[in-house]
Amino acid sequence: MSRICTKLQIDVPIIQGGMGNISHAELTAAVSNAGGLGTIGCGTMTPVEVKQLIKETRRLTSRPFALNIAIRVSPYTEDLITLAIEEKMPVVSLSAGNPAPFLSKLRQAGIQTIGVVASVKQAVKAEQAGMDILVAEGVEAAGINSPLELTTMTLIPQITDHVTIPVLAAGGIGDGRGLAAAWMLGAEGVQLGTRLIATQESRVHEHYKRHLVQADDLETRIIGREVGQVRRVLNGAYVEGLRPASLAEFQEKTNESFHIKGALEGDETAGYVNAGLVAGLIDDVPTVAELFNRMMDDAFGRIERMYRTLQ
Ligand SMILES: Cc1cc2nc3c(=O)[nH]c(=O)nc-3n(C[C@H](O)[C@H](O)[C@H](O)COP(=O)(O)O)c2cc1C
Repeated sequence: MSRICTKLQIDVPIIQGGMGNISHAELTAAVSNAGGLGTIGCGTMTPVEVKQLIKETRRLTSRPFALNIAIRVSPYTEDLITLAIEEKMPVVSLSAGNPAPFLSKLRQAGIQTIGVVASVKQAVKAEQAGMDILVAEGVEAAGINSPLELTTMTLIPQITDHVTIPVLAAGGIGDGRGLAAAWMLGAEGVQLGTRLIATQESRVHEHYKRHLVQADDLETRIIGREVGQVRRVLNGAYVEGLRPASLAEFQEKTNESFHIKGALEGDETAGYVNAGLVAGLIDDVPTVAELFNRMMDDAFGRIERMYRTLQ
């Protein structure tokens, strides 16, 4: 069994990435019930809203799930840390900011911490600060990415060469080939975002799922680079019309309300949807359990065949 499964008390080394304000109980519980680790992304939700989501998720699963707090995105970071402790969450994932000030508090409460990093320097710092597990995310990923724009393929082996804690790969993974490749590169599991959007249990608008299924290799783009932010989204009328003059204007025009318009209301002329490069590999909408079984079987099959071929 991998260190990830032992530490997180899960059966398959696949975790759900935080998904901001479009998180909901059904998908989180489905990931945990399928043997992975579901995650409630806190986004900009209030602690009261997050508490309600925790309650709903606990009604649907008795297995562990995590909270993702995007440190600089949430106006309630301190209060969400307190909520995680009060709610006895087993795992908290921290992204988009410096996690160091929160780690000892979480550790004292017996909470496992996962840090999302995008360079070797960030990974080493996070391990030194006391993080338990790392997610190394490449620029293939959906949503806000590091402006460093390193790729998953090159990032994972460099990070695993420099830290001793377990590393999960994120960015561009959606099938057994990606899972097997992540293992080969030194990761002990994977974090999924985009692929989980196109599942039966995901409650995003049907247009978003259909767009992912129809997407080819060229259907995502990075927006915001010219003003210093890197966000990967699906092509659409709204993002094609964006001409931000400043970072502040870009952030205003891509705030969570525009993501909700695209993702939950299905209107990609009035809003946008996050998606990673893996969109080009998605061609169906399975249940989460079907997806995980397929990924695990295919990854094992490939590794076995490779072993036999090389013998
Ligand atoms: C709709 C959506 C919203 C996301 N919101 C967040 C977030 O709030 N916090 C975060 O750390 N990552 C967020 N991400 C990134 C995912 O957690 C994950 O790391 C990433 O999607 C992995 O790459 P992939 O899309 O290629 O699977 C989001 C991704 C998606 C698809």
